[in-house]
Amino acid sequence: MSVGIDKMSFFSSDMYLDMVDLANARNEDPNKYLIGIGQKKQAVIPNTQDVVTMAANACEKIIDDDNRKKIDLIIFGTETGVDNSKSAAIYLQNMLGLSRRARAFEVKQACYGATAGLQMAKEYVTNHPDKQALVIGADIARYGIKTPGEVTQGGGAMAMVVSSNPSMLEFEGPSTFYSDDIMDFWRPLYRTEAVVDGHYSNDVYVKFFKNTWDEYKKITGLSIDDFKAMTFHLPYTKMGIKGLRAILNEADEDKQEHLKQEFEYGRKYNENVGNLYTGSLYLNVLSLLNNSTDLQTGDRIGLFSYGSGAQGEFFSMKLKDGFKNDQLADQIDTDLKNRKRVSVEEYERIFNNWIPIKDGDINLDYENDSADFFLKGVKNHQRIYGRK
Ligand code: HMG
Repeated sequence: MSVGIDKMSFFSSDMYLDMVDLANARNEDPNKYLIGIGQKKQAVIPNTQDVVTMAANACEKIIDDDNRKKIDLIIFGTETGVDNSKSAAIYLQNMLGLSRRARAFEVKQACYGATAGLQMAKEYVTNHPDKQALVIGADIARYGIKTPGEVTQGGGAMAMVVSSNPSMLEFEGPSTFYSDDIMDFWRPLYRTEAVVDGHYSNDVYVKFFKNTWDEYKKITGLSIDDFKAMTFHLPYTKMGIKGLRAILNEADEDKQEHLKQEFEYGRKYNENVGNLYTGSLYLNVLSLLNNSTDLQTGDRIGLFSYGSGAQGEFFSMKLKDGFKNDQLADQIDTDLKNRKRVSVEEYERIFNNWIPIKDGDINLDYENDSADFFLKGVKNHQRIYGRK
């Protein structure tokens, strides 16, 4: 029996900021953002979307009645939680009409949360093959206007159903992981924007990747030649190139070209959305599956998950017959193409309109939010959600 990802889906906002517009407004050479950072567009998240609504919008594309019968584990990975006590998973369970005979909770370790959830789900489904787990990675990446991190903002949600005999991807073999107490990126409770030591965070990321990859090779006996493609947590897509470059010299020239080409397919969605934090690795995976032209059933892909603070993990998955979902791929392409381009001024207004961390009722202007699930406001300390 194999265990893995049976369904995947993705949601982000219907607005974006063009990185050339941002570069011009910040007096930077556009090529710094387009090539040096590797980002073309950035999702602009309105205050009527939070991690709960984005997750619900992602899930509604894939959750059917069979899933409703079988899902009894809901794990919500996020570092943009909406409450210091109640988990986003409980809100989601209710919104999607999932079974109440379920464990529903939130996990946090920066961008690593969804991977923690996925690995927990794998263990659970291995022991309960007739059950399914729903794993979410949803976040909104905020660094601040005119900060070096601004070009690496973004947001969205990934949803994954973990089952036995999955149609898309199966887990294969062990994981290698490494953690250490590191201050490369964090967000104190009183802030809506992250604090980051950007260049240091890049170095730690590559160090953790090398560390887990070397350990993985040692315990599995596999080499770079055994992988069809490598996928990465992509806070910005150049970061994945830095990761890939750290091991490329282990392959001959043909293999190097091949891995670089697969990376190009894999970063297509990410370079148009920006950082989803904990969903980013899985958006990279989905982009690879939907855009690569030469993947085949049985191919092995590597996944490197990194969450600042810091936790790294490397593992592999193999492609199953249903790894490519053309309907989903077309829908994502259409959604990304139909987004509204906002000016830098409009983006700044939306950014500054973020719900502050303070007491008080708020009524939001949700009429223009095109998503099915949205946030209407806050009343008596409670978030009020709506559905079209
Ligand atoms: P910066 O200082 O503005 O940029 O910050 P830079 O001067 O380092 O330039 C960036 C790249 O552009 C360089 O290339 C330049 O050479 C190049 P590199 O040396 O990196 O290969 N460049 C150009 N290229 C072409 N044409 C040009 C040009 N000019 C310059 N004209 C930084 C960049 C990424 C540090 C900043 O945006 C930042 O702090 N971002 C946020 C932190 C981050 O994303 N860290 C990633 C690793 S940590 C992580 O992944 C975890 C995270 O997702 C959080 C979590 O776990 O929850 C962040």
